[in-house]
Amino acid sequence: MDTTYVQTIWQVMDELHNADQLEKALSSCLDILRDATGSNQGSIWMLDTQSERVIALIESNTADTIGESAALGEGVAGEVVLTSEARNYNSSEAGRVRLAGADGPVITDESILAVPIRTPQHTLGCMILSGKETGDYTDDDARLCENCCAILALDIDDKGFEFRPFEDRQPVVTVRDVIKEFQNGEEIRQVLKGVNLDVFPGELMVVLGESGCGKSTLLNIIGGMDKMTSGKLLVEGKDMSDPSEDELTRYRREYVGFIFQSYNLMPNLSAYENIEFIGEIADDPMDSGEALKMVGLEDKADHLPSALSGGQMQRVSIARALVKKPKIILADEPTAALDYDTSVKVLSVIEEIVREQKTTVLMVTHNPEIAKMANRVIKLRDGKISSARVNLHPHKAADLVW
Ligand SMILES: Nc1ncnc2c1ncn2[C@@H]1O[C@H](COP(=O)(O)OP(=O)(O)OP(=O)(O)O)[C@@H](O)[C@H]1O
Ligand SMILES: [Mg+2]
Repeated sequence: MDTTYVQTIWQVMDELHNADQLEKALSSCLDILRDATGSNQGSIWMLDTQSERVIALIESNTADTIGESAALGEGVAGEVVLTSEARNYNSSEAGRVRLAGADGPVITDESILAVPIRTPQHTLGCMILSGKETGDYTDDDARLCENCCAILALDIDDKGFEFRPFEDRQPVVTVRDVIKEFQNGEEIRQVLKGVNLDVFPGELMVVLGESGCGKSTLLNIIGGMDKMTSGKLLVEGKDMSDPSEDELTRYRREYVGFIFQSYNLMPNLSAYENIEFIGEIADDPMDSGEALKMVGLEDKADHLPSALSGGQMQRVSIARALVKKPKIILADEPTAALDYDTSVKVLSVIEEIVREQKTTVLMVTHNPEIAKMANRVIKLRDGKISSARVNLHPHKAADLVW
């Protein structure tokens, strides 16, 4: 045993002694081991036992790993957590392995060392280091990291640190194995090919994906505006996969609010009347004037849509969605027709609704910058969810740039 080995262990223990927060404990341990092994970069992935996904929580000198996630067994992170065994890839193997899922980050031309963070009873996550300056990782590196991560795991257990990406784990909406086919003459086209998704209360979830990948289709199914071909939709545990007309009407009227790219306002009604009109059919609506105030348009109540700018029209349509006090707001490309400044204004309103009203928002966009303000980002590709990531520190809408 050389002195570096012992020193590193002491350093880790010292840092852990001072850490009063899970993120701090992980972060200091990662930095120490990155230094000790001469690694270029590193990340720590934790297992969320509810969703059974391994989620990147901490990174050191890595770009864009945070919030990436992998199912158990998927990618290096998922595999190490599943098997609880370290993996050591030399630099010629590394280009072929992914850290997480199919869309996840790849490390090319650099050696990778991944070790579990485990107690004797269970595996909590894993640490991944890469780019050792002097070539491949040695058995000594692996042993050092494994031992330090074991100390870390015991410390996490001891202090009762918990990793919970969401406070309330009872989903508002659950989508299971949803398939959607469209028939075009003779031809049947599968647009959604088995989508699984949980949306949690009070989260802002962004769905990203290229044009035509099925984003709007998914949103419409969740909003009860389109029927799935097969699969399940649960809303607060209630099965809405095949609702009666009555259930559907009530659901659309009271439960969900829609925001579309094209504002869909009634041209002959004023801003106020456009909101009041929806409020009238809801069970326990908000005051229309209050809804207008929330989007900062109280002084435009009498204006017809034609006398409003695009951003103002979109804000009226947000107020219209809000007035029903819906549990969930579904927003389909709400800023696609707006310029940058107006988009940021509209996104700030959405941000505030999530923060102040605790409304759950599911927002579709193809602008990856907007995804930074989300609590969670889902990527849809070719009718399936190809990746999901958690933002523990979402950006403010006002700080987004594109
Ligand atoms: N009613 C329909 N009948 C037949 N095909 C449809 C229908 N609605 C959607 N599709 C097809 O399903 C696919 C997915 O459409 P969808 O509108 O969900 O995509 P999207 O991801 O929202 O795209 P965009 O970013 O362009 O809005 C497309 O190929 C589209 O042509
Ligand atoms: Mg669409």
